[in-house]
Amino acid sequence: MTSVDLHLDVRAPGLLAGLIEALRDAVRTGRLAPGSTLPSSRRLAEDLGVARNTVVAAYKELTDEGWLTARQGAATQVADRGRAVTEHRPPVARPVPGDRPLHDLRPGFPDMSSFPRAEWVRATRRAIERAPGSAFAETPPAGRIELRRALADYLARARGVYAAPERIVISSGASHGLALLAAALRARQVETVAVEAYGLPLHRDLLARAGLRTPPVPLDQHGARIDRLAGGAVLLTPAHQFPTGVALDARRRATVVDWATSTGGLIIENDYDGEFRYDRKPVGALQGLDPDHVVYLGTASKAIAPGLRIGWIVVPEAMIGTVHRVLSATGVTGVLEQLTLAELLDTGAYDKHVRVMRNRYRARRDDLFAMIDGFDNGVRLHGIAAGLHALVELPRNTERSTVDSAVARRLAVHGLEPYRHPAVPRDRDAIVVGFGSPTSSGWPGALDALRRVLPGG
Ligand SMILES: Cc1ncc(COP(=O)(O)O)c(C=O)c1O
Repeated sequence: MTSVDLHLDVRAPGLLAGLIEALRDAVRTGRLAPGSTLPSSRRLAEDLGVARNTVVAAYKELTDEGWLTARQGAATQVADRGRAVTEHRPPVARPVPGDRPLHDLRPGFPDMSSFPRAEWVRATRRAIERAPGSAFAETPPAGRIELRRALADYLARARGVYAAPERIVISSGASHGLALLAAALRARQVETVAVEAYGLPLHRDLLARAGLRTPPVPLDQHGARIDRLAGGAVLLTPAHQFPTGVALDARRRATVVDWATSTGGLIIENDYDGEFRYDRKPVGALQGLDPDHVVYLGTASKAIAPGLRIGWIVVPEAMIGTVHRVLSATGVTGVLEQLTLAELLDTGAYDKHVRVMRNRYRARRDDLFAMIDGFDNGVRLHGIAAGLHALVELPRNTERSTVDSAVARRLAVHGLEPYRHPAVPRDRDAIVVGFGSPTSSGWPGALDALRRVLPGG
């Protein structure tokens, strides 16, 4: 086992105290990673020009505090901090807010334990074998053509998107795609992008930071109130509204496309979880109805993993030039990830993974439905036709206490309130339940924890 090279800045007055503080600081800030092996006391003493006993005493103190681990006859190592913290923290009667959650039902995450590791490795191997040498030299600003071609086929097939490869730009996720688009819209003198009354604050911020106004569009049980749109552009989540879960109904889909066509307006369609539709054939993307007035935003964050940072935008032909002008000089997603994803799409492995995950999420959605069905006091489930989250409506004035009770039980779940547009009045109490993130074995416990924190549970 090789030990790490250690640069220590010993400052505190007193050699021993200074050494302890410097080592503690190195572990705390991550310069000494969990599991790394420290130099022997003899070597560190020589390096620092101090007595070996001083180093031995420092190691012992930090071992007692839980920062380091030492076993008889073995080298001293940096403790796994998760373990160290729990082993050495004084016992507490109740978990406190800020502790790592035991159960995670926050929206936005797929089941990361199901990442298709073997398929990804196989696809990477094939991608590397096939790639021309020139592929490793640069990332084209709009993304590799192999991925743009594969996405054009996939999006047409799976989502009804009209997506010629030259209309596609690879982004580092839907959020980055939206930021690119915001810059392009400003460059085209657009001043306003209306947003749904509830939505991701991050997306409102991205638009506002680009200098766009973001007035709210009200929502009702049929989705966004399209009849309230003025000119400009609108950002929608038509397949599964985030976070209320409503699907934009058929008449409104037609109305909003008419609005865009007749006013020259632009619809930004965020299809972040469109692949996960449970009860019927997926409703196709709006973009297919009018590719010249809809920009389509997609992402691999739900179907595979958010850590990949791969997304795509499909732009109307008339906007291709402007969008290309706001791209950075090099692409933002690594060539290998792009080529690997192209392989997964071309071989059907992506579809297969989505199918498996869709069945798994559908079963969870059904469990959630059955659990909530047992409540008869105003606790109701909405938005379960699609996606990885649903909205649990709560009796009036119980959102805050429900979220607090979840935190106290170390169940991570979001209230609806953080998603509310600041210009719309608060009109309901609800929590947004993401059922994607638990592992299969963790799901029953997460569901049970949720049941216990709901009013009347
Ligand atoms: C509404 C919405 N859009 C997009 C995304 C995905 O964003 P990204 O592709 O940047 O990871 C999420 C993820 O939670 C989301 O909730």
